[in-house]
Order: sequence, then structure tokens, then C-alpha cells
Amino acid sequence: MDFLSESSEEGAMADCFLWDRRFETGIPEIDSQHRTLHQLINRLDRVIACDPSLPALSEILEELASYAASHFEYEESLMSGFESGQESHREAHADFNLKMLEMKEKAAENPAETAPWLLTFLLKWLLTHIVVTDMRMAKKLLAMRAGHSETEAEREAQSCELPLLYTMEKLYDEMAAKTRELIATRRRLAMEISERRALETEFARQARTDMLTGLSNRRHFLELAEQELARSQRDGDLLSMLMIDLDEFKSINDRYGHQFGDSILKKVGEVFGKTLRAGDIYGRVGGEEFAVLVPESDEKEASEVAERLRMEISTIPGSPSDRSERVTASIGIVTLPAVDADIDLLFNLADRAMYQAKRAGRNRTFRADTGTREAPRV
Ligand SMILES: [Fe+2]
Repeated sequence: MDFLSESSEEGAMADCFLWDRRFETGIPEIDSQHRTLHQLINRLDRVIACDPSLPALSEILEELASYAASHFEYEESLMSGFESGQESHREAHADFNLKMLEMKEKAAENPAETAPWLLTFLLKWLLTHIVVTDMRMAKKLLAMRAGHSETEAEREAQSCELPLLYTMEKLYDEMAAKTRELIATRRRLAMEISERRALETEFARQARTDMLTGLSNRRHFLELAEQELARSQRDGDLLSMLMIDLDEFKSINDRYGHQFGDSILKKVGEVFGKTLRAGDIYGRVGGEEFAVLVPESDEKEASEVAERLRMEISTIPGSPSDRSERVTASIGIVTLPAVDADIDLLFNLADRAMYQAKRAGRNRTFRADTGTREAPRV
């Protein structure tokens, strides 16, 4: 097609929508005003490309309102000599003004969403109003100035339809390309954002997880325990802490290697997962040391939980070859009213009871809050 396109005066490289001489009506004042609108469309396009801010969008909306006021007044003064056809044209101008007011309200609420809507509206206006309605009005006016009657001039104005269709097709192609580009950019951005969020989630998970057992690490256990303690203090509950230390674990590592030792730690981690309740808080707090905070538990319930853990751990083989050898654990228990407790106190008392269990011969549970005597076996 023989389009006589040229760039707008605002900068050839940056303009997405090119001025086409077929937009020209032949009335210099109108064409000059239309080019102002065309430049505003390209400015809006650049604003959209840089994450639209309210001030940038408001400035364009102000200029559009000012453009419309003087341009419509001029066109309507030219149409004042017509006997017919000018009413619908005036209504279209009034609709444009209403649309600008609506866009102004939307822009105040959400400039990023409003800017593309405004661009779509202006391009449609370029296609349907300037290229069709204004063009017909200008042809009719020029024909009347050349001496034709209004009826003949109206007929003359209709004859410019075919070139207009070519111009509209070109504009449509530009709009479609721009839309495809916008969709591709948004899709890419959405993917990048979702990948980054997934990475952040994974980093956060790694930061709070003991990678060998998959349990909470010491820091995360303490965070969760602090939260639970605060909740229990509000509700006036009892709560218990268990400190679990695997017996002779260094000896297992020395005899059978660290790989075997690691496999035991993983199995102990699985024991916690299947033995404890959903509300219990647990983690690996040292090399072969684990802690459990049991909310809303009295001494008896805490002892039962400790005993279940001790028995489950004692089913894990403690040797790669001798099936009679089992892993064992010593467990210290403390139960306190939450209002009297803090995490350090619970940790210290449970730890001390755990060492009592070690000294008493290992593979047993001891309660700190009952004079560090051995807890009854279930
Ligand atoms: Fe118009």
C-alpha cells in the first residue's frame, strides 16, 4: 500500500503510532489540531511503557481536555452553516468530554489500569471520529465552499470511504501489534514475578528448615515456640517442653560412619512427623538433639508424648548389620503454667532433666518439674 507515513514531531524513534496523511481533512486548522491529539497519543503510549504515574497521566488528561475544548469549538463553528448532520457530530464531541471526566476519576483510583483504557479509547476515536466523521464534515464543507449544494456536498463527502478504509486497516494493524507486544511483555513480567516469588519462598523455607531431617531448625523452632508461649500465656494454659537427645550417637557415627548416622537422624525426623499432633511444635535444635513444645498439656499428657517418642525412636536400627541394636533416646520433660514460663527457662529445665535421664542409664524420660525423678513408663 502507498501510505505516505511520517513520524510525528515528538521523535521518530519513540513514536509507536505514526501520522498518516490520510488522516488529513484538507482544512489546515483542523489538521494541525488533530496532530496535537496524535502527539498526545504517542506521549500516552510512552507513559504506559514507564509504569504510569498519576501526575503523568493527569497532565495528559488536562491537555486532552484543553485540546477538546478549543478543537470542538472550532469544528462546531465550521458546521454552523450546515442544515443537517451537525447534531450527531456535536453529540460525539459531548461524549468525548464525558469520557475524559470518567477517565479522570478512574485515573485517581488506578492510573496503571486507566492509562491503557485511555489509549484504546483515543485510538478508537482516531479511527471512528477523525478518520470518518471529521473527514466527511471537511469534505462536505469544502464542496459547499466550491459552490455545491448541501445535498451534492453530502454525496461528495460519502465518496471518500475507500481510502479511509485503507487508513483504518493500517491503524488497526498498528494497534494489534502494540497489543500483542503489551500482552507478551505482561506475560513475561508475570512469569518473572512468579519465578522470583517461588525462589523467595524456597529461600525462606531453607532458612527455617534443617535440610537433613526436614524439621524446623533451631532458630525457627524458637520463633514458633515464642509465638505459642505468648498464645498460651493469653489463654492461661499449661504447656510442656521435651528435650530429646539420641544416646551414644557419636559412637554410632564413629563405628558406622556419618552417612549411616545421617540416615538415623532422618528416621528420627520421620518419627516426630508421625507421632506428634498437628499443633505440637518441634525441631532439630542441635547435632543429635531435638525439642518439642506441647501446647495445652499437663504433666501426664507430656509424659505420654515423651514415652511414645522414646518407644518409636527405639524401633530404629542402630547398626547397619546387627538388627538387634537399636537407637535410643533420653528425654527431659518440663511442664509449667505458661504465665510462669519463658523459652530459656523451659529449655534449661528440660535440658537438665534430659541429663538426669542420661545419668540414670539413658533410654528413659525424666520430668524436671517433679524433682527430676523418672517419669512412669507407659
Ligand atoms: Fe469532530
